[in-house]
This record gives sequence, structure tokens and C-alpha cells, in this order.
Amino acid sequence: MILVTGGTGLVGSHLLYHLTIENNDIIAIYRTQEKIEKTKKVFSYYTEEFQELFNKIKWIKADITEIPSLKPIFEHNISTVYHCAALVSFAPKDYFKMRHVNIEGTANVINFAIEKKVNKFCFVSSIAAIGDSVNGEFINEENEWVDNGDKHGYAITKYGAEMEVWRGSQEGMDVVIVNPGVILGSGFFDEGSGKMFNQVYNGFKFYTEGITGFVSVKDVVSSMISLTKSNIKNERFILVSENKSFKDILFSIAENFKVKTPSIKATPLMTSIFWRIDWFLTLITGKDPLMTKNSARSSHNQEFYNPDKIRNSINFEFEKIDKSIQDVCSDFIK
Ligand SMILES: NC(=O)c1ccc[n+]([C@@H]2O[C@H](COP(=O)([O-])OP(=O)(O)OC[C@H]3O[C@@H](n4cnc5c(N)ncnc54)[C@H](OP(=O)(O)O)[C@@H]3O)[C@@H](O)[C@H]2O)c1
Repeated sequence: MILVTGGTGLVGSHLLYHLTIENNDIIAIYRTQEKIEKTKKVFSYYTEEFQELFNKIKWIKADITEIPSLKPIFEHNISTVYHCAALVSFAPKDYFKMRHVNIEGTANVINFAIEKKVNKFCFVSSIAAIGDSVNGEFINEENEWVDNGDKHGYAITKYGAEMEVWRGSQEGMDVVIVNPGVILGSGFFDEGSGKMFNQVYNGFKFYTEGITGFVSVKDVVSSMISLTKSNIKNERFILVSENKSFKDILFSIAENFKVKTPSIKATPLMTSIFWRIDWFLTLITGKDPLMTKNSARSSHNQEFYNPDKIRNSINFEFEKIDKSIQDVCSDFIK
């Protein structure tokens, strides 16, 4: 039996689709029924016959921070775990919540997996948990992660979660970790990276020239499945198809939608003023910030990632990002 956490999120929902077409016995955890419908919507992007595939999943209500809710799941002879659940946020107010979900939640899942002698544990980390570039060179899996006080909460908690997974490997479990860049995929257009498609479609005017790694969700899940089935263990892999600027990504989305490309270059000064005003407004309105100090800074960073390790280890070919954007745009308007 395969267990998927985070199956009601972007990565987990696409992963579930690919696992169901392989005829696996799958348990997925969920917290609210409403979010299961979002997963079903993702299945519908792939095929009209999605209901039959979707019905193959056994959904069990659980929260990774609540140990008693996880216990009955691990009574199901789980052989493989894909751990995708996490809280993804750049808002400083979410830091302690992220520690609870991302680090303690991962520790809980790992502890059950060790106890039940799970064969393989695949964890979705992030490029945020990989060290910075040295002398401007491309970043690879060996770059040491050092917190000089400049790391944002999400990065700290993803790194902390990786430590829990490495502990699992020390205790004898076979693990693989993937470190994706910004993931582009269909569904969840009101949150995370999906929001970019929504915003550009609705006339978003700003762009920055920051550069980072991007990857399609289909490549993320297919490499996760290949690594998990392989004999590879106790390794981590950067998943980045191409290093691109936010400008290129936003322009490509606009061209696919045949809408106006964003026309105003947001300079570091502009974003630093914007996040401060936005922070002030959140105090008054209580709403989540549109931009935080960390997201403002990240939007200007220029980081280049080297994905040769996954390419060479399992002969993996990434889809070009323009093709991924084209596919997501066409699903968006469906
Ligand atoms: N999206 C990206 O660009 C990106 C890039 C690099 C790495 N990642 C990593 O990829 C993984 C998946 O990200 P995503 O984009 O799919 O995120 P997402 O769409 O926000 O989904 C997060 C998933 O985690 C679940 N979750 C959150 N807290 C939970 C809890 N306490 N107990 C059980 N489930 C919980 C959510 O359940 P609910 O539906 O109930 O909220 C949802 O299923 C994460 O580990 C993230 O760090 C994402």
C-alpha cells in the first residue's frame, strides 16, 4: 500500500493521478472534503474518464501534526510513503505554524514509517533547503545550507524537515528527497505558483528580473515515482528544468493567454516600499499579505541551479518550461 500526504495540494494531486494510472493501492490523507474536490478537478485535466481512476484512492482524514490521527493509517501495511504535505508561506506570522507542520509533522510521519518498516520514503523538499551559490557558480545538491540569519521561515522549516528525513535514513529507512524549484502545474490557481497564471490572465502589470529554477509538476511527480521505484537511496535531487527570470515566465504566460504582457519593471526600491505598505495594511485589515519582505527580496535574487544529478542518475529528461506554461494556460481556460 502506498501512502500519499498532501494529496489535496498541487504536487500531491498530480502525483495521485500518476499513481492511480499505475494501478497502485493508495491511501491519501485529507483534512477537508472541499479540498478533495480540488484533487478531482486536477484529475479532470488529464482525462474525461477521471472518476474511475479517482475512485481507486482510499481517503482517510488525518493531520500530520496529530499523532492519533496518523496511527490508524499506518495499520494498513504501508510499504511506500510519498510525503508532500507542508505549509508553504512567506508570511513571517506563519513561521511557528510552519515549524509545527513542516518539521514536527514530518517527524511524526517519519516515526511511524520507521516503526512500521516502510520500504521507501520519498520526501518533497525545496531548493529553499539547498545552500547558496559559491562564487556565483550554479548551485548543486552539495552546496552547504548555512543560516547566517538571512534565511526565511519557509527555508528554515524545509531544511529542518529534511533533517528529520535524514534521521529516518540513519535509523535504517531508505529515503529519497527531491528539491524542486518553482513548480508550474494545473489547478490551485488561487494559491502558490498557480496564482501567477491567474494574475497575468487578469492583467497583472508588474515584473521583476529575478532568476530562479522552474519545473513542471509532471516532471516533479514522474521523477519522484522513478526515484522511489529505483534502488537509489539516501540521496537528494534538485528538480529544475530551466533557470529563468520572472519576467520571462510572466511574459510567456501572457503570450499564451494572448493578453497584454506586464509592462512595469518593479525595482528593488519599489518592492521594498510595497511590502512595507502591504504589511501596514495587513495590520488594519487582518488579511494575508500580498508581498512580504522575504518574497520581495526573492523576486530580485538571481539563482542558478544545476539539475545534472537527476539527469545522470535516472536518465531524466525535463520538459521545456515554455511547453509546461502552454499546457497550464490551456487547462486554466478550460
Ligand atoms: N509549489 C511549489 O512551487 C513548490 C516548490 C518547491 C517545493 N514545494 C514543496 O512541495 C510540497 C507540495 O507543495 P504544494 O505546492 O503541493 O503545496 P500545496 O498546494 O499548498 O499543498 C499542501 C498540502 O499539504 C497539506 N497539509 C498542510 N498542512 C497539513 C497538515 N497539518 N496535515 C496534513 N496535511 C497538511 C495540504 O492539505 P489541505 O488541502 O488540507 O490544506 C495540502 O494537501 C511541499 O512540501 C512544498 O514545500 C512546492
